[in-house]
Amino acid sequence: KKNISVGLLGLGTVGSGVFQIIERHQEELVHQLGCGVNIKSILVRNLEKTRDVQVDSTYLTTNPEDVLNHPEIDVIIEVMGGIDETREYILKALEARKHVVTANKDLMALHGPELQNAANQYGCDLFYEASVAGGIPIVRGIEDGLVSDRIDKVMGIVNGTTNYILTKMDDEGVSYEDALKEAQELGFAEADPTADVGGLDAARKMAILARLAFSTSVDLGDVEVNGIADLALKDLQFGKQLGLTMKLIGFTHFQDNQVEVSVQPTFLSRNHPLAAVKNENNAVYVNGEAVGETMFYGPGAGGLPTATAVMSDVVVAIKNMLLDISGRSYLPPRFEKVLKTPDQ
Ligand code: NDP
Ligand code: HSE
Repeated sequence: KKNISVGLLGLGTVGSGVFQIIERHQEELVHQLGCGVNIKSILVRNLEKTRDVQVDSTYLTTNPEDVLNHPEIDVIIEVMGGIDETREYILKALEARKHVVTANKDLMALHGPELQNAANQYGCDLFYEASVAGGIPIVRGIEDGLVSDRIDKVMGIVNGTTNYILTKMDDEGVSYEDALKEAQELGFAEADPTADVGGLDAARKMAILARLAFSTSVDLGDVEVNGIADLALKDLQFGKQLGLTMKLIGFTHFQDNQVEVSVQPTFLSRNHPLAAVKNENNAVYVNGEAVGETMFYGPGAGGLPTATAVMSDVVVAIKNMLLDISGRSYLPPRFEKVLKTPDQ
């Protein structure tokens, strides 16, 4: 079989990770797919930039059409971030009958249902495993692993940057500003880190998880959000004296057809399993009626872990394409949304 060609929108932290996996793990890809995967074209902003990966400059472009309408490209991997322009690009890609894989929770939280409807309409796949909790397969864990169950609660740490900051402040007495700077240098933070520290990034992920877990429509505005931007070292030290550790906790609950979704800095007992989740790691509990309590744990941010999640989607999209069963994954919500505020 001929190789399958993919196009990349973005070659930053996550895009470079995808590039490396495609370069290094061809054998695994060929084993899974019966054919190789190659990158045909990559959209970037700045052609002159020094890259973390060795890429032939003829593959780089600043013209989105070179990727979106490339005749040989079957799958578009969106790892550039942003909302309006990116939404437009993804709609164009779907219209051009390309399958789309995205790591973009900002976009999926705001426009997920619209984009999924468009994917359905054009018979394409639109996958977004990497949009929640980096390398942890939580989207597929809920969508496939727990598909027969009745989930009533999802809770955990879904932002790597804030968990990194809180860990550094709590364990090493590093200041908030220095810890944030480190998280940015390591590529965990968003282009605008106020989304991380203000809790918005976690809120986006919790909206996506609540939709998936409860098969209901949840908007970003429905999430009660508080971040960690106002925390000082002395707050954490005070907690420490009481045997507590601070974590930014995402919580969503479904009962009597009512949904509650929140993101709040929360003091946990130092013996609580989530207190042991350090640095950029994330952990998500999912509670189902039949399965009981499950916990998903792993790196919640960073190039290669996130790229692993992206590539899991790419492989499924290609398998579906080869089997001619693309575009069948989106199911509309089963339940009307009825919200419950966290203090009800
Ligand atoms: P980066 O800022 O590191 O990379 C963004 C890339 O996209 C760069 O290569 C940039 O080009 C390119 N780009 C951005 N805007 C445009 C534009 N308008 N036109 C053309 N090219 C553009 O981001 P990340 O890799 O960190 O994140 C990418 C996506 O993945 C985001 O949606 C993010 O939320 C998500 N994500 C990130 C994780 C992480 O750990 N970093 C984890 C999970 C998801 P140039 O290089 O020329 O500047
Ligand atoms: N900025 C995000 C985080 C990246 O820190 O969790 C992963 O989604």
